[in-house]
Amino acid sequence: MSASREPVKFAYWVPNVSGGLVISNIEQRTGWTIDYNRKLAQIAEANGFDYALSQIRFTAGYGAEFQHESVSFSHALLESTTTLKVIAAILPGPWNPALAAKQIATINHLTNGRVAVNVVSGWFRGEFAAIGEHWLDHDERYRRSEEFIRALRGIWTEDNFTFRGDFYRFNDYSLKPKPIDPQPEIFQGGSSRAARDMAARVSDWYFTNGNTPEEIAKQVNDIRAKAKVNEHTVRVGVNAFAIVRETEEEAKAVLAEIIEKANPEAVNAFGHEVKNAGKASPEGEGNWAKSSFEDLVQYNDGFRSNLIGTPKQVAERVVALKRAGADLILLGFLHFQEEVEYFGKHVIPLVREIEEAEAATAVAAE
Ligand SMILES: Cc1cc2nc3c(=O)[nH]c(=O)nc-3n(C[C@H](O)[C@H](O)[C@H](O)COP(=O)(O)O)c2cc1C
Repeated sequence: MSASREPVKFAYWVPNVSGGLVISNIEQRTGWTIDYNRKLAQIAEANGFDYALSQIRFTAGYGAEFQHESVSFSHALLESTTTLKVIAAILPGPWNPALAAKQIATINHLTNGRVAVNVVSGWFRGEFAAIGEHWLDHDERYRRSEEFIRALRGIWTEDNFTFRGDFYRFNDYSLKPKPIDPQPEIFQGGSSRAARDMAARVSDWYFTNGNTPEEIAKQVNDIRAKAKVNEHTVRVGVNAFAIVRETEEEAKAVLAEIIEKANPEAVNAFGHEVKNAGKASPEGEGNWAKSSFEDLVQYNDGFRSNLIGTPKQVAERVVALKRAGADLILLGFLHFQEEVEYFGKHVIPLVREIEEAEAATAVAAE
């Protein structure tokens, strides 16, 4: 897999749910309020971040006692920034595609096309039960998500849109106004066979849990080969929990403290819930299929990407993920405002230096 020549993009998780990004009693200087998040978004765009990703959660799981809604929260962040793109998480079921298409088209107009969506397929059965939503088996959730994405794209790009799906129907529907360019990008989250096949057919971006460059390369090769057959292009975003400190020892000590102070009941309850959600995914490749207790302390396997060390080590590992096929690195932090700034000032410039040196070598070899 040869790395893209485009600069790798950086995103951060919007902490719009309480409790931070790790299920641990370690101190996390991160807020879930709008004031904290507005300032964070401004810090991120001033320090080289391209995207922010919001989360959708209707009820507490793994902690996360308070949860702000993703689309309205994303809009507020877009209104507080000028260049950052914000990806609003959307869950088919609670959302139907007609409402989602209309909401996002309006936000696209209000923000010069800076809004994107992350279509998530859901893992939390208790949440669906709590809000009276029908729970579908794993692969059925993806069949619905794929129809959802096809409907979104159809509504955004066609007049007299007609669609006959198993989950959604549209009859001669013309959305006005349609989104202005750039069209909203469609991301998706999940790594199972069903998720990969959906990405290879319809999504602009495939988000996956944290992993080593070797494992990411396997996923990327798999998806890109299938996408090619479908004459589709899909880009890849990889999750990582970054702990960047002046010395490697300091960074490793922070990781050890996160694990040592993990909340075992909450981690085990989360592990039980997500493994249960993947049961109808027969191949056992989905997110969390191979996660250990330690992995689950960061709820998207963010430690596995190993962005834990000095700025130089972390920059080199970002580039290794890029070489494995990652187009975007999605980052979580312990103390978001402080660490987004530190990452932007100390890691991103080193990544750009390595990328420029590689580009110069590639040109010289041509
Ligand atoms: C980057 C990323 C973001 C996600 N965001 C959410 C979210 O906000 N809400 C949610 O319910 N699930 C979210 N998910 C979970 C996925 O939608 C999916 O249920 C999960 O990854 C399991 O999918 P799999 O069985 O295909 O691997 C996210 C997943 C990833 C990788």
